[in-house]
This record gives sequence, C-alpha cells and structure tokens, in this order.
Amino acid sequence: MRFISKAAVAAVFAVTIAGIASQAVAQQKPDEALKMRQGLFQAVKMNFGPIGAFAQGKGALPADAAAKAENVAALARMLPMAFAKGTEALPGSNTKPEAFASADFAKGFGMMEEAATKLAAAAKAGDEAGIKAAVGDVGKTCKGCHDNFRKE
Ligand code: HEC
Repeated sequence: MRFISKAAVAAVFAVTIAGIASQAVAQQKPDEALKMRQGLFQAVKMNFGPIGAFAQGKGALPADAAAKAENVAALARMLPMAFAKGTEALPGSNTKPEAFASADFAKGFGMMEEAATKLAAAAKAGDEAGIKAAVGDVGKTCKGCHDNFRKE
C-alpha cells in the first residue's frame, strides 16, 4: 500500500493546487480578499511582536528571531496582493481609499521588506544592538503607513 500512497497523495495535491489556482484567477471575492489582508497583518504581528517586545525590554529575544524577521519580509512581499485592484472598497476594511492611488503606499511594503531583511541579518549575526536598531526601523515603516493610510 505504501508505494501507491505517495503517488496518490501527489496527484491529489496537484489537483487541489490547480483547483485553488483556477478559482483565484477566476474570481477574487471581496470577503476573501479582506480575510487575506487581515490574516497577513495578523501574521506580521505574530512574527514581529515578540522581537519588538525584546527590543523594548519586555521579553527575551526569540530563538528563531531571524526566521521570524524573514517571515515579516515575506509577508511584506505578499501584502500588495491583498490590496489589488478590485479591493478598494471592501466592507469592514480599515484602509483609507486614498491608499489605492498613492505611490507612497505602494512603496511602503517595499520599505517594510527592506527593513525586515536587515533585521533578519542582525538576528542571524546575534547582534543585539543591531536588532534593536533594526526593530526601530521596521516599526517606523509600520507607523508611517498606518498614520497615513489606516483608518483610525
Ligand atoms: C504600506 C502600508 C502598511 C505597512 C508598511 C504596514 N501596515 Fe499594518 N496596516 C495597513 C493598513 C492599510 C491596514 C488596514 C487593513 C484593512 O483592514 O484594510 C493595516 C492593518 C494592520 C493590522 C490589523 C489590525 C489593525 O490594527 O488594523 C495590524 C496588526 C498591522 N497592520 C500591523 C502592522 C505591522 C506590525 C507593520 C510593520 C511590521 C505594518 N502593519 C506595516 C498598512 C500598513
């Protein structure tokens, strides 16, 4: 039995992925787009939060700080998808309408990715002062964008 199961699993997986991909292309449902947006930010918070707490003297440096920072960088790369055309007026969204027409907003996620990548490098090097400085730089990209483009 074992020798077929691997192939069977691979086949089911391939069909599932193809199904998900064609659905996504066919229709970007507003409620799904909003869930993606909020889920990605939740993941940002859960990865960045513990390193931020360390930088503020409120906790130990997570052992996997470098991986968490890399996750934040990857999430910054994914976030623009969650603000794609057609997601300007999602019910329940906290994004100001002007974000969608702003070059600064679009650049914000690139700045966040860059800062998070530097944070990952400092964490890999075990450079605690560097980590604290980089956390500040990442935090500035969060706050800069929230101040301008997130509803109160
Ligand atoms: C380029 C803009 C931008 C950047 C950079 C950014 N955010 Fe946000 N963030 C937003 C917007 C816009 C929303 C509102 C999303 C919605 O509901 O439509 C948001 C929502 C959130 C939320 C959801 C809950 C809430 O309070 O609304 C969290 C948590 C969050 N951001 C954390 C962060 C953290 C942490 C960073 C930095 C590591 C960050 N964000 C960087 C624009 C940004």
